[in-house]
Amino acid sequence: MEFVFRFVGDLGATMAAGGIVVGDRLGLYRALATAPALPQELAERTGTAARYVEEWLRGQAAGGYVEYDPDSGRYSLTPEQAFALTDPEGPIFAPGAFQLALGALKAEPRITEAFRTGEGLGWHEHDEDVFTGCERFFRPGYSAHLVAEWLPALDGVEERLRSGVRVADVGCGHGASTVLMAQAYPNSVFTGSDYHHGSVEQARKRAADAGLDGRVGFENAGAQGFSGGPYELVTTFDALHDMGDPLGAARHVRSQLTPDGTWMIVEPAAGPTVADNLNPVGRVYYAFSAFLCVPSALSQHGGYSLGAQAGEEPVRRLTADAGFTRFRRVAETPFNIVYEAKP
Ligand SMILES: C[S@@+](CC[C@H](N)C(=O)[O-])C[C@H]1O[C@@H](n2cnc3c(N)ncnc32)[C@H](O)[C@@H]1O
Repeated sequence: MEFVFRFVGDLGATMAAGGIVVGDRLGLYRALATAPALPQELAERTGTAARYVEEWLRGQAAGGYVEYDPDSGRYSLTPEQAFALTDPEGPIFAPGAFQLALGALKAEPRITEAFRTGEGLGWHEHDEDVFTGCERFFRPGYSAHLVAEWLPALDGVEERLRSGVRVADVGCGHGASTVLMAQAYPNSVFTGSDYHHGSVEQARKRAADAGLDGRVGFENAGAQGFSGGPYELVTTFDALHDMGDPLGAARHVRSQLTPDGTWMIVEPAAGPTVADNLNPVGRVYYAFSAFLCVPSALSQHGGYSLGAQAGEEPVRRLTADAGFTRFRRVAETPFNIVYEAKP
């Protein structure tokens, strides 16, 4: 029965993912955060159909994502629920993660087939929600930790960023990290790059929207061929393990760094062994890895497929094989580990 209850919980969570994305897209959470509401009132606030909103609210209350008061029939959000469900710029934003999950699951027929054939599935071949969901899943962690903790943990880098250096953000996706760094260090110049043309286009938009176009540029290029060095700092955020040739990428990063430059490698948090990762965070990452990271790496030449839970040792080995002489773990959060590699 313990396992049956677990399965029911998981089934509810799986179906609830759809409702969470709907609630985010239609602004239901944000509207509910303003004041408790009857279904009809929330529907009026959001221009949606009351009967659908009623059923959505009931399911949300059953899952603990909204509160229900049986006396008044009104639904509401606690401060904690509002904190995690309504602010894409805050330190945690659950709907972005579910958007990523639903987007990834749209590839299920192709992933099932890939299990049979061993072929890869490129990052660029996924649904648009994977790219936007990934940005919205990761950005909260970056905005909470990147400028406040990760960059200061690198040897002498923060000081240089303040006075003005050239930075490359490799595998930048929609440029969430690039924009955050550029906003924090107005004297430095940033170049994001990604092999996925559509992501680079979006990144350009994000930088323009943030008023940063003069100091932030983007290049549609793979990690093994981006240009513009020498850079004082190169960063890769949650991208190295997605590459078929991370060693080629590491060698190219080294060739694009100044002699005393720094490569900051941000990777998913993981322990050294599979047994260390058999926990809720590991479950999330292994599932994403089977649908996104391993297929992405297998779609590229190079022969690597590290997966999202590779842990520290393979990253250390890659940097050593590429000729970096110094490597250390400088920071970690429940979702990420940050490494520093120097030539
Ligand atoms: C999980 S996403 C992370 C995106 C972004 N860095 C972030 O943290 O939001 C992985 C990114 O790596 C990019 N990527 C995969 N293989 C690549 C390669 N060989 N060269 C450059 N980028 C690559 C993908 O296009 C995707 O944008």
